[in-house]
Amino acid sequence: MKTYLVTGGAGFIGGNFVKYILKKHDDIRIVILDKLTYAGNLGTIREELNDTRTEFVKGDIGNRELVENLFTRYDIDVVVHFAAESHVDRSIENPQIFLQTNVLGTQNLLDVAKKFWTTGKDEGGYPVYRPGKKFHHVSTDEVYGSLTRDFSQPQPLTLYGVAQKLGENRRPPQTFGAKMFDEKTPLDPRSPYSASKTASDMIVAAYGETYHFPYNITRCSNNYGPYHFPEKLIPLMIKNVLEGKKLPVYGKGENVRDWLYVEDHCKAIDLVIEKGRPGEVYNIGGFNEAQNIDIVKLVIAVIARFMKEQPQYRSYLKIPVEEINENLIAFVADRLGHDARYAINPEKIVTELGWYPETAFESGIEKTVEWYLQNQDWVNEVTSGDYLKYYERMYGGRG
Ligand SMILES: NC(=O)c1ccc[n+]([C@@H]2O[C@H](COP(=O)([O-])OP(=O)(O)OC[C@H]3O[C@@H](n4cnc5c(N)ncnc54)[C@H](O)[C@@H]3O)[C@@H](O)[C@H]2O)c1
Repeated sequence: MKTYLVTGGAGFIGGNFVKYILKKHDDIRIVILDKLTYAGNLGTIREELNDTRTEFVKGDIGNRELVENLFTRYDIDVVVHFAAESHVDRSIENPQIFLQTNVLGTQNLLDVAKKFWTTGKDEGGYPVYRPGKKFHHVSTDEVYGSLTRDFSQPQPLTLYGVAQKLGENRRPPQTFGAKMFDEKTPLDPRSPYSASKTASDMIVAAYGETYHFPYNITRCSNNYGPYHFPEKLIPLMIKNVLEGKKLPVYGKGENVRDWLYVEDHCKAIDLVIEKGRPGEVYNIGGFNEAQNIDIVKLVIAVIARFMKEQPQYRSYLKIPVEEINENLIAFVADRLGHDARYAINPEKIVTELGWYPETAFESGIEKTVEWYLQNQDWVNEVTSGDYLKYYERMYGGRG
């Protein structure tokens, strides 16, 4: 049996990952370490906390004593490190906490893992580690900076035979630019958030070089799916449509992101933990480049359809069904330093490990919208209190 330390397991992706690996592996024990910031919610992992295979510990990844205690108490085999301050807008407001958690917190975890996993030294003076140990660092495509948008209309993307694997129910992949990020793209972060993630990636890699520490880094594109905190684009749009509020879209909505269904991401992480070559970085993308404005329009259309076809959901709707339309969109002043385009090239994980994003965007969005319609209690629970003040600060005076 393996013991995983999952940091940030009460957050969006960490919570989905805990669900995924509990279903996938019987012989596993999971220790979840989460500070429960505004973004962490025990409601996300309520069922999983009743599972005898999980332990939850509330605490800060930067707390040396606490993390050492966990390594003493549990024989941790794998650290899966999700915990982070993750919202770009918040990093523009208050960069310091991003450095504390994302950089120093990560270094603390590395240092404790190194200490507990080391058994001795090799002839070169490098630490030797107990077998089967791995530190998996979850990072982002934002460390690569921003790509240019070269095409006003998306062009067909023909990549590495992956298109065939994507299945017939998906529209062929498209792209807005000539270049994509691969693992060799120089790191060029541009926001306090991405700068802090870049620094954390580099310290992980530095432990690999300097101490031969066993690690993998995965860099993924924008995730979407259940349990996503409604400050991020897709869940925010769903929430606002239901409440009949305006849908704030930065600038002209032309920024391009690649979207990855969260469960596909969890599968990729599980695969890299099991089969990824130590010391390697793997990019994980959804083959789904889209402009923000088109995402918002799709969300509006899907909600409108659900409301027409499944009247039971109308009890959550605060406006008449006919008012669910693109008039809800409100363009707001652009984010400072807003990156134009991200696009991930996941060729390496596809060809080396056989992973590919299985979820077609349209069906992923349908699943996501339906999940939010069925889980309004969760939304209400996570968006009380501080969230309301934050929302007012970000969008209150704009438009
Ligand atoms: N969401 C995305 O689209 C996306 C894309 C690329 C990369 N990532 C990366 O994936 C990881 C998870 O992202 P997410 O969207 O699930 O984030 P999230 O904000 O939903 O969750 C982060 C979790 O970390 C916890 N946390 C924060 N600071 C902590 C600390 N000091 N100690 C312990 N726990 C702490 C929070 O309570 C929360 O549960 C992050 O590292 C993020 O940079 C996310």
